[in-house]
Amino acid sequence: MDASEGRATRSDPAPPPERLHRPDPPEFGDLSQFFNPFLPHFVRDALTGGGEVWVTRDAGRVDGLLLYHDTERVGSIFTRSRSRAEELRGLHQPGAIFSEFPLTPSVEVYSVWETQAATVIREHRYAHPVRGALRTDLPEVGRLLRETYGRFDPRWLEVAFLPGTRCLVIEVGGQIAGAGWVSVAGREGRLYSLTVRPRFRRVGVGTDLWYARTAWAARSGATRVISEISEQNVPSMQIAERGGMRRIGALYLSRTPGAPQVRGAPQLGQTLSVTSMRLPQ
Ligand SMILES: CC(C)(COP(=O)(O)OP(=O)(O)OC[C@H]1O[C@@H](n2cnc3c(N)ncnc32)[C@H](O)[C@@H]1OP(=O)(O)O)[C@@H](O)C(=O)NCCC(=O)NCCS
Repeated sequence: MDASEGRATRSDPAPPPERLHRPDPPEFGDLSQFFNPFLPHFVRDALTGGGEVWVTRDAGRVDGLLLYHDTERVGSIFTRSRSRAEELRGLHQPGAIFSEFPLTPSVEVYSVWETQAATVIREHRYAHPVRGALRTDLPEVGRLLRETYGRFDPRWLEVAFLPGTRCLVIEVGGQIAGAGWVSVAGREGRLYSLTVRPRFRRVGVGTDLWYARTAWAARSGATRVISEISEQNVPSMQIAERGGMRRIGALYLSRTPGAPQVRGAPQLGQTLSVTSMRLPQ
């Protein structure tokens, strides 16, 4: 028997993208400048939130990943190959897709920011008490996200209770004023889906949630924290800059004609995004 029989070789035609239905993490290659440690979380979160997960492989190893949700019609592609990105992008047109490649036709730039988590464990005077979201908060948190971003799949809220992930909230006068998510994978933390109810903006809720999530990430073992922010989102960039974050790169949101507008900061993991989490456990 030929030793290479049954094994994919470079000259084999690439198999078509394959849809995954279970969160068992496949063996990912190097798919991203920024997000490699989070890819297993992203797959898990996408499936938890009712999204689709597609992979491409080269000789059995995953070299492309697409996460997509039909409700939001927003997805994310992770690959180091532009042709893979275009192949995966072709699975969902029209749609809005995040990618480290600026895919056509229209593109919005999201900067990726980072900070060394330890430097943030310094004095911050919290203007509001921050706590972890409870299951009983989920209906109100869901309303906040829907009012801010439009359509989203409420199954995604379950992500807040998965290992390595938290949703932190601030309550003002018995109402959820803001919420934000944080994930930690090994020594890497990520802040996403920061959302503050309009009438509670400009009073420091977003800033408190930024510090609280960063502190939670540091306590959970992260030495570095990253966050992706639209270049059009002045308040979020202000919060990140004041916290000592710096830009380390970019990713791109491309929309085909007919794709929905993405409001706020869509999230890579499942597709809707932005929030922060709570301070002490
Ligand atoms: C971005 C967001 C979370 C900020 O929350 P917030 O509670 O208003 O933030 P803060 O009160 O902590 O404001 C922090 C700083 O950002 C800047 N800022 C806030 N709103 C601003 C605005 N509309 N225009 C310009 N700068 C603004 C200010 O410098 C502010 O500090 P200051 O009030 O002391 O000057 C909130 O606007 C929001 O939910 N937006 C919609 C969703 C979204 O875009 N989320 C972020 C995705 S990454």
